[in-house]
Amino acid sequence: MSSSELDRNADLAALVSAMPKVELHVHLEGTLEPEQMLALARRNGVKVPFADAQETRAAYDFEDLQSFLDIYYASCAVLVTREDFRDVTLSYLRRAASDNVRHVEPFFDPQTHTARGVAFDTAIAGILDGLAEGEREFGITSRLILCFLRDLPAASAEATLREAQPWLGRIAAVGLDSAEIGNPPEKFAEVFALARELGLLCVAHAGEEGGADLVTRTLDVLKVRRIDHGVRSVEDPQLVARLVREGVALTVCPFSNLKLRVTPTIADSPLKALLDAGVRVTVNSDDPAYFGGYIGDNLLAATRELGLTRDDLHALGRNAIEGSFAADARKSTLIGELDAVFAGARP
Ligand code: HPA
Ligand code: ZN
Repeated sequence: MSSSELDRNADLAALVSAMPKVELHVHLEGTLEPEQMLALARRNGVKVPFADAQETRAAYDFEDLQSFLDIYYASCAVLVTREDFRDVTLSYLRRAASDNVRHVEPFFDPQTHTARGVAFDTAIAGILDGLAEGEREFGITSRLILCFLRDLPAASAEATLREAQPWLGRIAAVGLDSAEIGNPPEKFAEVFALARELGLLCVAHAGEEGGADLVTRTLDVLKVRRIDHGVRSVEDPQLVARLVREGVALTVCPFSNLKLRVTPTIADSPLKALLDAGVRVTVNSDDPAYFGGYIGDNLLAATRELGLTRDDLHALGRNAIEGSFAADARKSTLIGELDAVFAGARP
């Protein structure tokens, strides 16, 4: 590598680190690092099949989405008390603050907890405790997203929405996650319509393992504002044109796509092609404790492997702010912070 290339890479790495970030695709349960998972298992007397953190990490070798989900849901068994949910949320925010994350819209999966006897109220109260403490301590603002598990019946999602009713003022949106194949958006049309009537915004995972047609149907049927992942949209030029026209944000997660074998390498991610086409692409971490990197790591890897430029990074930062559900005043503040970093000296 020439010395000018080395300089350029160092400049881009410094920008990745310094830029204020907005994270739009992170599952709080997916931020449970092995050390914390084992500590909570001890605290709550829950048995886990791993002796130590090293053994736990060694098991994080996934073949596809389902093989990940099996381990991810099993690990959630250590989350029992309100304090546990607060702790995992606050640990994530502490780590995010070190990446200059300024606003986050995390997901949580209430059905994973209610199915094993942990009350909806316990989970959400702990998460809200953590988000409030994180805002006080690190200045990270947030809007919480309740995800329905798409492999469970629609009636279970409807029951969850009913449990959420007392908390509606603290929930910004509903989302849809878990196994995409065999669980199409049409299954959740009614519960999403109900959520919209209750004033909630909508997002959904789509186009991760499923093809571009599932992204189109998710937009049509669930009336979502953002598509989580959505990388396979690239397979349909008409859909790409629609995403651009409608300003739909895609919350792309390069490490997740690599670890779950959605793309063979990060260099194969359609992230750059979609960005170049004018789609509101954002970069996120998904389940950072399982996929080996937080938002800064994902941005840096994408920069290196896809040859992202300074202007690309600026666009990714702007897209995340504009695609967020933050209040307009907060968006303006964050755009000001972002532009100030990018207005800095060019080498
Ligand atoms: N896809 C679907 N469901 C999930 C994911 C994901 O990437 N992470 C946690 N639940
Ligand atoms: Zn996800």
